[in-house]
Amino acid sequence: MSTPVDHISASAEFTAKANSHKEGVAFDYAQSVRDPDAFWGRIAERIDWVKSPTRIRNVNFDADDFRIRWYEDGELNASVNCLDRHLETRGDKAAIVFEPDDPAASAQTITYRQLHARVCKLANALRELGIGKGDRVTIYLPMVPDAAIAMLACARIGAVHMVVFGGFAPQSIADRIADSGSKLVVTADEGWRGGKAVPLKANVDAALKLSGTASVETVLVLRHTGGDIDMHSPRDRWWHEAVEDQPEACEPARMNAEDPLFILYTSGSTGKPKGVLHTTGGYLVYASYTHETVFDLKEDDVYWCTADVGWITGHSYIVYGPLANGATALMFEGVPTWPDASRFWQVIDKHQVTIFYTAPTAIRALMREGDAPVKATSRKSLRLLGSVGEPINPEAWRWYFDVVGDARCPVVDTWWQTETGGILISPVPGVTEMKPGSATLPLPGVQPALVDAQGERLEGATEGNLVLMDSWPGQMRTVYGDHQRFIDTYFKTYPGMYFTGDGCRRDEDGYYWITGRVDDVINVSGHRIGTAELESALVAHPKVAEAAVVGFPHDIKGQGVYAYVTLKQDEAPSDGLKKELNALVRQEIGPIASIDHLQWAPGLPKTRSGKIMRRILRKIAENAPDQLGDTSTLADPTVVESLVRERQVPG
Ligand code: WT7
Repeated sequence: MSTPVDHISASAEFTAKANSHKEGVAFDYAQSVRDPDAFWGRIAERIDWVKSPTRIRNVNFDADDFRIRWYEDGELNASVNCLDRHLETRGDKAAIVFEPDDPAASAQTITYRQLHARVCKLANALRELGIGKGDRVTIYLPMVPDAAIAMLACARIGAVHMVVFGGFAPQSIADRIADSGSKLVVTADEGWRGGKAVPLKANVDAALKLSGTASVETVLVLRHTGGDIDMHSPRDRWWHEAVEDQPEACEPARMNAEDPLFILYTSGSTGKPKGVLHTTGGYLVYASYTHETVFDLKEDDVYWCTADVGWITGHSYIVYGPLANGATALMFEGVPTWPDASRFWQVIDKHQVTIFYTAPTAIRALMREGDAPVKATSRKSLRLLGSVGEPINPEAWRWYFDVVGDARCPVVDTWWQTETGGILISPVPGVTEMKPGSATLPLPGVQPALVDAQGERLEGATEGNLVLMDSWPGQMRTVYGDHQRFIDTYFKTYPGMYFTGDGCRRDEDGYYWITGRVDDVINVSGHRIGTAELESALVAHPKVAEAAVVGFPHDIKGQGVYAYVTLKQDEAPSDGLKKELNALVRQEIGPIASIDHLQWAPGLPKTRSGKIMRRILRKIAENAPDQLGDTSTLADPTVVESLVRERQVPG
């Protein structure tokens, strides 16, 4: 029945030059399980410590004696590791290459020495504005080098950054500011995306009018597009004025390994987005180790990750991992399809990119444009390709490998999460045989397992829920302000294990094939959206009685958003109302959360105790009414029949 799976090895040329070797990876993996202290103690030496850690690992996943601590007596500063320690040997090396949205605008190169100076100046300015150790700083910026500078300036003085993706709306910004209690917001007048200006400062102004944001004392504004904005004195300050007279050196704060480095909000299956908190030592060791291992990093690489710094991928694999490793990282403000579908490949040629890391949704969107926009470029510089964010279908994997990489570059399909801080399951290029569509095998130090609904461990080739049996240094430490929620969300479903929320298949070779979320989280174009957030935005409309949102398979986005909406008595469905509801969701959450299909539902399938049966709604949205399963517990089975009959045809 099953279709044959390709087994693909890296070319002999790649393998011969690869940093990793089979025996080395096998040794590391075995040691990491047998003696995690020895393994992670050794890996921690890649980082410069002010005080080296003597205690490596202190972990217990049991709820009644819960703790996750790594390198707990170590001291360091993350910005020193990303900047100062490179100055002697790499001072004139490009740290960041910036490619603007507009291909006609000139690219910029920032050396490690220049980056160090700019970070120090901003760090001094932040200190002068009253920001110190432990204070939270919101960063809402476009994909410009200044975003990395702002993050590193916070790290330098021990402030905790909280980056909000530029695609979020004022309400979402306000919720995050309120939850984190930020004292300062760093933003820009506007950003550029595909030739259009994004009103960042105006969004911050709107957010700060919303309740819960009174903690903000200062808004620091980067002049980027030069667009017209309101400046509110004394709250708003120009970045360039604040740094003008600051010295190019700044004494770094001495941080404990377990001091917070940043907070990043992510959606879960219930409630509001959670503030995922990462700490300094373990996170930096893990981001740096995985960045070098998974991307086979060499000194002269030009590395390009297309993610936005507003996501964890940007934190770990644009800023902290690459810069801790002294790499050259490209930052791109634009989008893959503007001015045309050749842009990515043109940028690769222009900057001689050697390592390229992007998301399946972008690959699928570009694949749809055919091979010509790719073939029009050389891409000779490329030697390694990466994928992240959602399962990559074998067809897209093949196109990426064959057409983009000319069958010359290994593809690393990297599975991880905001919560994991770094990549957990991925090929080690040159070592791990690849299978299109599989994230392959765990990295050293990572112990995945599959369990059934009762938490029983499943062995061999099988399918189940993906859990992790032990900690790794990059693991999140808490939900900001709600430690109990952290334990309840991740460690209660299957006691003693970290539950990922993902379903997964393991094949006869022990390879992992992530099948997608098994909770009420939708992965739209690699962005996580909680169905609960979408539903609460919909029911905020005065005409809506009830709403249920599920994901459905979408050709480009991976998953699309399918909403079932029940109107209040006497309210009539209309296309106008549909538009209003979509606008409401975009206004509450942001443009990243658009409804793809909205079905008017006279009623929703519920159990007799009133619980919405999402399993059934998912099957209807998937157009698989023959797989509805057991409907005997439904309070009113006729509801399902009418929903199946009236189902919208997506596409
Ligand atoms: C969820 C985490 C990790 C940074 C980007 C997303 C899905 C991520 C893969 C992959 C299959 C993947 C999972 C995971 N996911 N990478 N290579 N193959 N699924 O971070 O927003 O925290 O989302 O993304 O479902 O749980 P995130």
